[in-house]
Amino acid sequence: MTSRIAPSILAADFGNFAAEVRRADEAGGDWIHCDVMDGHFVPNISFGADVIRGIRGATQKPLDVHLMIERPDLYLERFIEAGADHVIVHVEAQHDVCKTLAAIRARGKKAGVAINPATPVAALWPLLDQLDEVLVMTVNPGFGGQAFIPEVLPKIREIRARAPRLPIVVDGGINPQTGRQCAAAGADVFVAGNSLFKHKSLGLQEAVAELRKNVTL
Ligand code: DX5
Ligand code: ZN
Repeated sequence: MTSRIAPSILAADFGNFAAEVRRADEAGGDWIHCDVMDGHFVPNISFGADVIRGIRGATQKPLDVHLMIERPDLYLERFIEAGADHVIVHVEAQHDVCKTLAAIRARGKKAGVAINPATPVAALWPLLDQLDEVLVMTVNPGFGGQAFIPEVLPKIREIRARAPRLPIVVDGGINPQTGRQCAAAGADVFVAGNSLFKHKSLGLQEAVAELRKNVTL
């Protein structure tokens, strides 16, 4: 499968959001990854639907909206209205996951679930028919800039074996080295925040290209 790169704007300059989103778009990002955190499901607060609307105005690229919120069922319509193309909800949140996925697809959007590092992949099997993507957390959700957890690699292999064509997104601590390990395990969409926006020596476009080269096997 073709590898896709999804810059995570959680690592961008929050004082210049629209410009940062345009920069991620022009740098070759395939999807723009937007991390929504409510301070309950994860111990951090990021931004909500109005910010997604602002991001929507700055790019035509698909917005991959990762809801790290306790009640995604109550809020998903606002994110769809604001311009989300893909809506990712956590299996660990407080909702009927099947119903939430059906509601996302009923609105014509791509539906996905995310699973935390400690959640077994078996949680996905009853949902496979309802998924347009699965997001495997490779750190515990809540903060950018954390170290990749290599113990999740076998989960990626299991999902790929069971669902050969399902896009597998990896999210957290992804850089050219860890991204390559995930690609070898079967991942094909690579979310990256710090390793792109805060690269020590490369500009954003070069960092996207370097990551893409490493995850293209
Ligand atoms: C973490 C978020 C990630 C985050 C990744 O809770 O879901 O999308 O932005 O950031 P990095 O790439 O810096 O680990
Ligand atoms: Zn994310």
